[in-house]
Amino acid sequence: MSQARITIDRDFTIADVPRRLFGSFVEHMGRCVYTGIFEPGHPAADARGFRADVLELVREMGPTVIRYPGGNFVSGYRWEDGVGPVEDRPVRMDGAWHTIETNAFGLHEFMEWSREADVEVMEAINLGTRGVEAARSLVEYANHPGGTYWSDLRRSNGAADPFGIKLWCLGNELDGPWQIGHKTAHEYGRLAQETAKAMKLVDPSIELVAVGSSNRQMPTFGTWEHTVLTHTYDEVDYISMHAYYQEHDGDTASFLADAVDMDAFIDGVVATIDAVKAAGKHRKRVDISFDEWNVWNQDQYNQVEAAEIAAAGWREHPRLIEDVYSMTDAVVVGTLLHSLLRHGDRVRIANQAQLVNVIAPIRSEEDGPAWRQASFWPFARMARMARGTILRLAVSSSQVTTNRYGDVDEIDAVATWDEESGRLALFVANRSLDSDAVVDLDLRGLRATGIRSAEVLAAPSGADRRAVNTEQNPDAVRLRPLEDVAVDDGGVRLTLPAVSWAAVEFDVAQS
Ligand code: AHR
Repeated sequence: MSQARITIDRDFTIADVPRRLFGSFVEHMGRCVYTGIFEPGHPAADARGFRADVLELVREMGPTVIRYPGGNFVSGYRWEDGVGPVEDRPVRMDGAWHTIETNAFGLHEFMEWSREADVEVMEAINLGTRGVEAARSLVEYANHPGGTYWSDLRRSNGAADPFGIKLWCLGNELDGPWQIGHKTAHEYGRLAQETAKAMKLVDPSIELVAVGSSNRQMPTFGTWEHTVLTHTYDEVDYISMHAYYQEHDGDTASFLADAVDMDAFIDGVVATIDAVKAAGKHRKRVDISFDEWNVWNQDQYNQVEAAEIAAAGWREHPRLIEDVYSMTDAVVVGTLLHSLLRHGDRVRIANQAQLVNVIAPIRSEEDGPAWRQASFWPFARMARMARGTILRLAVSSSQVTTNRYGDVDEIDAVATWDEESGRLALFVANRSLDSDAVVDLDLRGLRATGIRSAEVLAAPSGADRRAVNTEQNPDAVRLRPLEDVAVDDGGVRLTLPAVSWAAVEFDVAQS
């Protein structure tokens, strides 16, 4: 049993909780849209083809904003294909995922679905094969009230009121050679700048995200951000980050510490943004949209799936990257959310990729059921409980030795305090593979008066660590009550099993 202390001071704050941090992502990829959120003819589908069983799980999970329609898909997409009478829409080849795209689902369907799911829409434009003209037409179509060509077309397609989409991504992963329309940083920077200008001429109220590096290992990481922001700083509000993590060669200790990499990645991008700000004598601040993150076994994709996809020929909604998440994966997802929240002063938007079936917290089967993956739980709890202000914690704990990151804190935590409701939420993980940890909370300026809820995902043994939820056994991995938690003289003591993630909510009074 190891010991840890977390000091939480009411006056040491990071930022307000950015509610857009709990975002998700729906791409026209695999079975995320088709047989995921949309399956006409499914017993649970409504007249529009929206699956009510999936929608119910989405509402329970609580994403606040959803990025759409890609991803790599968007770099070859013509948005006009997805509007107008469905029977007139063209069937296209999607080169990004070697898939037949019927366009039965498009912008209007996604806007309606988003209203049902109660989420904000974050729309990505194609800067791979297209540019300024297609982008400004789409903003006019979506956001202009009427009386012009594109806005009247929207109205004639059944949406009298503008969609009012505020958040727009200026393309996707254009630094990557795999991207359709891959560009150098200069090429992309100039195109993004001019496209941003034209989009804001149509609707000055929109917020824009420039494309950052596809991952921290890209050879152009750092110089890409610097060059792109040098071109676009005045026009954009955010730069994107993407990161996927996985267990390499059975190295669970390093995998459990991957949030250390995410922390460093974010710090590096913040430094680059601020260097461009200083050099350009800009006054405004550009923030981060971490608009793709998750656990994803990319080795499996690169070494096996990519070849299978190519060999299988052109199909509609094939199964793609339907990773099945274990209890350990869920603990890592929890710590990645900690990292995002700890950086909530600069990471103002984040999207877990993706929402349904494709590396997703929610799974569904064609003509079958929908269920929660293990990774559903940390997201669902943090999206619901992280409210008010993010607090800056001082954590003192034993160290875990890892191959990738050296010695890292065994205990990883983040907390939020909602002054209005008098609630303090603590999210905390134990990264040790073999040792339970007793954690003391030293509260300053606050006094715990009661425990509202205390739940834990725990994988103390090897078998538990590999546990997953399946169609046949959908509740094998779920949150259970955290028994060892007690309020004592305004402070708190709790015990966390090895390899676990917990969400605890306290009533607090100011002292
Ligand atoms: O989320 C899956 C894919 O990962 C996205 O299409 C792409 O942007 C990223 O490389």
